[in-house]
Amino acid sequence: MWLPLHTVCLRGHAVCRRSFVVAFLRCSGHRDANVSHFSHSAGRCAQTCQALIYRNYGDPSRVVQLGKVDLPPVGAKDVLVKMLAAPVNPSDINMIQGTYAILPDVPAVGGNEGVAQVIEVGSHVKSLKTGDWVIPRDAGLGTWRTEAVFAEDDVISLPNDIPLLSAATLGVNPCTAFRMLSDFEALKPGDSVIQNAANSGVGQAVIQIAAARGINTINVIRDRPEFTQLSDRLKAMGATYVIREEDLRRPEMKEMFKTCSKPKLALNGVGGKSATELLRHLQFGGSLVTYGGMSKQPVTVPVSALIFKDVKVKGFWVTQWKRVHSHDGKLFRGMLDELCSLIQQGKLTAPACTEVGLQDYHKALDAAMQPFTSSKQVLIM
Ligand SMILES: NC(=O)c1ccc[n+]([C@@H]2O[C@H](COP(=O)([O-])OP(=O)(O)OC[C@H]3O[C@@H](n4cnc5c(N)ncnc54)[C@H](OP(=O)(O)O)[C@@H]3O)[C@@H](O)[C@H]2O)c1
Repeated sequence: MWLPLHTVCLRGHAVCRRSFVVAFLRCSGHRDANVSHFSHSAGRCAQTCQALIYRNYGDPSRVVQLGKVDLPPVGAKDVLVKMLAAPVNPSDINMIQGTYAILPDVPAVGGNEGVAQVIEVGSHVKSLKTGDWVIPRDAGLGTWRTEAVFAEDDVISLPNDIPLLSAATLGVNPCTAFRMLSDFEALKPGDSVIQNAANSGVGQAVIQIAAARGINTINVIRDRPEFTQLSDRLKAMGATYVIREEDLRRPEMKEMFKTCSKPKLALNGVGGKSATELLRHLQFGGSLVTYGGMSKQPVTVPVSALIFKDVKVKGFWVTQWKRVHSHDGKLFRGMLDELCSLIQQGKLTAPACTEVGLQDYHKALDAAMQPFTSSKQVLIM
C-alpha cells in the first residue's frame, strides 16, 4: 500500500531528548540519518522500504498501517541495513498508544528492537562491515521496516552465528534481566531471587541468566488451565520453583524456605498486589526492583516492610541505563558479549516466540495485546 502525498518528516521514534535536534535538522535542511519521508511520486526517484507506520497515537490495531517510506542516501557515517526480525514488546504498544515515557513525533515507524544485516557501509564507517548483524543501541529507531539507513553510532554489532530470534530479542529483555541481576544486590551462587510475570520475556531471561550463575529463582505466574505445561517449560529453562500468584499467601511458602534461602532480590513487572506479595518474602534489607507495571496498578509498600525489614524499593529502566552508559561503550559491549556467550553455550535461549510475516502485522499486534499468550510476537521481514 502506498501512502498519500506527504511532506512531513517521518522518523522512527524521535524521542524527547532529541526533539530540538530534529527541529534544527528540519529548519536547516540537514539530514538526520534516522529521518526519512513518506514516499511520494514527485521529486527524486527514492529507494523505498516497507514499514509499519502510525500517524496518530491510538489503538495499535487501528492506527498502524503498512506503507512505503523513502530511504535517505547512505552518508559517510551511515549504514544501509536490511531488517531481519523485530519483536513486538509491551513498550512498543504503549508508545503507539501514546502512554509511554518517551514518545516519537508522528508519523513514526513502530518498533524499538530487532536485528538487521548491514548491506552497505558509508565511506567513513569504521566499526561495521557488510554482512554484520546489528541491533539498536537505544530506543527510537523504528525497527518495523524492511530496510533502513542508520548512523553507525546508532547500532552495535552481534555475532551472526546466534539464532535469529535470540538476536532479535537480545537488546531489551535479556539486557534488563542482566542488569537487574547484577546492579542491585551482590548475588552469589545459592542466593535466591523472586519474580512475578516469570513467563514474560524479561522473566525467561532472568530464569536463565540466574541459573547460569547458580542463583535460585522463585517464579510467580498467573494461574491458567495450562499451568503445568508452562511451569514445566520454565523449569526446563532453569526455574527452581514456579508458583501461582495465589500461592504467595499460602503457609506452604514457609516449607519452600526450608530448602531455599529467602530472596535478596524481588523483580516486579506487574505492580499492584502482586508486588506487595513479593515484598513479604524478601530477606531483611533486600531490594524490590520494579521494571514494569503490566497490571497498571500502583506498588503499595507496607510500612512494616520499610521499618522492620528495611527493604529497598527501586526502579530500573534499561533505556536510561543505555543512555547513561552511552559514553562508555565497553560496558554495553561487555554485557552483550556475556549474553551472546551464554547463547552460544546453550544457556540462554530466546523467549517462546511466534514468528509473523510483516504483511500479517495485524495478527502480531492483536496477539501482543492479549493476556495469557506466553509467546513473544516477532515480525519476520
Ligand atoms: N524497565 C525496563 O527497562 C523494561 C525492559 C523490558 C521490559 N519492561 C517491561 O516489562 C514488562 C514485561 O515485558 P516483556 O517484554 O517481558 O513482556 P511479554 O514477554 O510481552 O510478557 C508480558 C507479561 O506480562 C504479564 N501480564 C500481562 N498482563 C498482566 C496483568 N494484567 N497482570 C499481571 N501480569 C500481566 C503476562 O502474563 P500472562 O501470561 O499471565 O498474561 C506476561 O508475563 C512490560 O511492562 C515491559 O514494558 C521494562
